[in-house]
Amino acid sequence: MVSTLLEERDGVVDLAAMGAAFARDPYPVYAALRERGPVHRVRMPEGPVCWLVVGYDEVRTTLNDPRLSKRWDNRSPGLGIEMVAAGPHMLGSDQPDHTRLRKLVAKEFTPRRVEAMAPRVQEMTDELLDAMLASPGRRADLVDALSFPLPMGVICELLGVPDLDREAFRVWTSTAVGSAPPAEKAASAREVAAYLTRLVAAKQARPGEDLLSALIRTTAEDGDRLSSEELIGMAWILLVAGHETTVNLLTNGVFALLTHPEQLAALRADAGLYESAVEEMLRYDGPVETSTYRFTTEPVEIGGTVVPGGGELVLVALADADRDPARFPEPGGFDIRRDARGHVAFGHGIHYCLGAPLARLEARIALRSLLERCPDLALDCHPDALTWREGLLMRGPLRLPVRF
Ligand code: HEM
Repeated sequence: MVSTLLEERDGVVDLAAMGAAFARDPYPVYAALRERGPVHRVRMPEGPVCWLVVGYDEVRTTLNDPRLSKRWDNRSPGLGIEMVAAGPHMLGSDQPDHTRLRKLVAKEFTPRRVEAMAPRVQEMTDELLDAMLASPGRRADLVDALSFPLPMGVICELLGVPDLDREAFRVWTSTAVGSAPPAEKAASAREVAAYLTRLVAAKQARPGEDLLSALIRTTAEDGDRLSSEELIGMAWILLVAGHETTVNLLTNGVFALLTHPEQLAALRADAGLYESAVEEMLRYDGPVETSTYRFTTEPVEIGGTVVPGGGELVLVALADADRDPARFPEPGGFDIRRDARGHVAFGHGIHYCLGAPLARLEARIALRSLLERCPDLALDCHPDALTWREGLLMRGPLRLPVRF
């Protein structure tokens, strides 16, 4: 059935035509593509045609290739895609600009700052679980009750955004990273930009102890600092990257546990397994299905295929790399005891996720508290009844009904 779906028209495999079935379970499609080779022309569910790279080794090599640019002004005008961002940021820049931005933020977004968040992450989790456990009928949508509000609360607190309109923000950011038409995405990005412009101005006038104020104050040894525009871009990338992703780590991770009862029982029996369970959740069904966009600056040969230069769009299937049997034995099995290190759920190379330590911290605290407080947590629908996000970037169900 998969191979019929993979029929090419004009050399292009139409992922868009596969609709909800592909969103629910893209793994067999990626695996079938991988069997044919590492590079394919595909029509994305979002509409444009891109070059898709599959397979662990090629994925890592591609992510490390400096001839693939993250700068939107390097894209081919024929692609019909528009930049969605509120200002210049790391994930939209190449060396040496990238190095400069990353160095400035790394000075302030330190492991110490992340560790210091642990008690607040625990408190926020406890409050959300108190509310969830009080819900009528002892049923809830886990996305609404925990997976969404926790990362949003954490990133807002880290950045010092106390009164953010979270519901509006949820709509803006999920539109910006989802599969909405380009004009809608751009409109969302403009609304976020306007909000962040006001926020940065407010912090400049009255700084606090938060990360955004620290980023305003910070100066490198050579006197370099972030401009107002760069601060807005930085706040944007931290807010977007810092919550949509973690939402799906929690949701996909709990879904994997609830559909693998023996793994859930093993985790309940041994709290020492949380660390490796989170790594396996990232590998088995990570939140970021394909990398963000990259554009060719010259012809690039990947696994025997030459992708032309001139701003061609290249996407890298992280989800497939982490299910490549050449790297992970029995990759379709969910096994919280396996050594999942080396997965690429957080990317690879210079754009490797800056927030990985924070995401891991949140996931460990949230999962442990959830399982401890809900000894009989169960899925409250048939697994096939879930609706999965469309679009190649993010992977996760829109809702996860649970009972407890
Ligand atoms: C489970 C949660 C998360 C996952 C799976 C994830 C995944 C990723 C991936 C795959 C990339 C690289 C994208 C590419 O190269 O195209 C990335 C970059 C990034 N992530 Fe995360 N992320 C998560 C959470 C976070 C959090 C909590 C933050 C911040 C608070 C964050 C901030 C960033 C930033 C700033 C970048 C760009 C780094 C650069 O360009 O140097 N992420 N993330």
